[in-house]
Amino acid sequence: MHDEIRNIRNEFMALVTDAKSEGELGELRISYLGRSGKLSKLIKNMKDAPKDQRSGLGQLINETKNAIETELSRQSVKLNENREWFDETIPGEKPQIGHIHLVSQAIKEIAEIFSKIGFVRARYPEVEWDYYAFGSLNFTKDHPARDDWETFWIQKEPHPKYGPMLLTPHTSSGQIREMMRSKPPIRMVNIAKCYRRQSDISHTPMFHQFEGLVIDENISITHLKGTLDYFAKMYFGKERVTRLRPYNFPFTEPSFEVDISCDVCAGKGCKLCKEGWLELGGSGMVHPNVLKAGGVDPKNYTGFAFGWGVERVLMMRSGLKIPDLRTLYNTDLRYLTQF
Ligand code: DAH
Repeated sequence: MHDEIRNIRNEFMALVTDAKSEGELGELRISYLGRSGKLSKLIKNMKDAPKDQRSGLGQLINETKNAIETELSRQSVKLNENREWFDETIPGEKPQIGHIHLVSQAIKEIAEIFSKIGFVRARYPEVEWDYYAFGSLNFTKDHPARDDWETFWIQKEPHPKYGPMLLTPHTSSGQIREMMRSKPPIRMVNIAKCYRRQSDISHTPMFHQFEGLVIDENISITHLKGTLDYFAKMYFGKERVTRLRPYNFPFTEPSFEVDISCDVCAGKGCKLCKEGWLELGGSGMVHPNVLKAGGVDPKNYTGFAFGWGVERVLMMRSGLKIPDLRTLYNTDLRYLTQF
């Protein structure tokens, strides 16, 4: 048995000098000193040795064990000394910290501007019924304007009362929901995702709109004009003004397209705008049929509404040349971290 112990020791001493990492040292420790390691096995076998040799064997095993321990720590120190030199004073690499997406920044700002004049932010379902997106907004079934809203229809059993299911193609669907939720006076701004079957350099299938709705007694076009001018000045700069241009939407009467004076020529006309004005979005006085659908009596109340694209106002203000609007949403950090 003496020989056996010596062999184990020699074998260990040869192996330990080859160990290249703390991990390998750990493995050696386990296979020599561990519970079912080589030395432990010998201790178990000691009972078979002649009685008079046992204490001598025990002593030898102990010495071997100590020698192995000592060598393991010596090698560990050596390994650490040989490790590559590391300068602790070099500043670390900063972790990348994200920031709010360009469009979310715009949404926040738009919500704040309107909240200053009492508009409460509202949100309504993105997956909607035809009734809220079209039917209640005075679109007849075969109204050609339905074609302008290139809608994503969802293949699901139509609702017996509200018709087929769809993804909201505009935030106007929130108008009826707001009227049904609360009574006039109403002053809401619904900023939400919209979906249309469109994808090219100036359109993404998912985009954002903000929809204003005001309903109260004696609301007139002057209130609409004042609100739009206020927004234009707050968002685009105090020298900017808006103008209303007659248009047609089924849910407003009269309806307008809103233009903003061009910042380059201040409304005189230049290469960028041609006539001095840039198109912002739609607006109008809420159609009496829409008020009725929302449970509001058009004899007592009138209202105005407007719906504009968030991405559109963002691009118009920043003068950002976004050659392809889709880059806003393809999560390329090289692009997005710039803002
Ligand atoms: N919903 C219209 C669109 O997506 C925009 C719009 C026009 C909203 C006139 C309105 C409005 O509230 O009064 O093109």
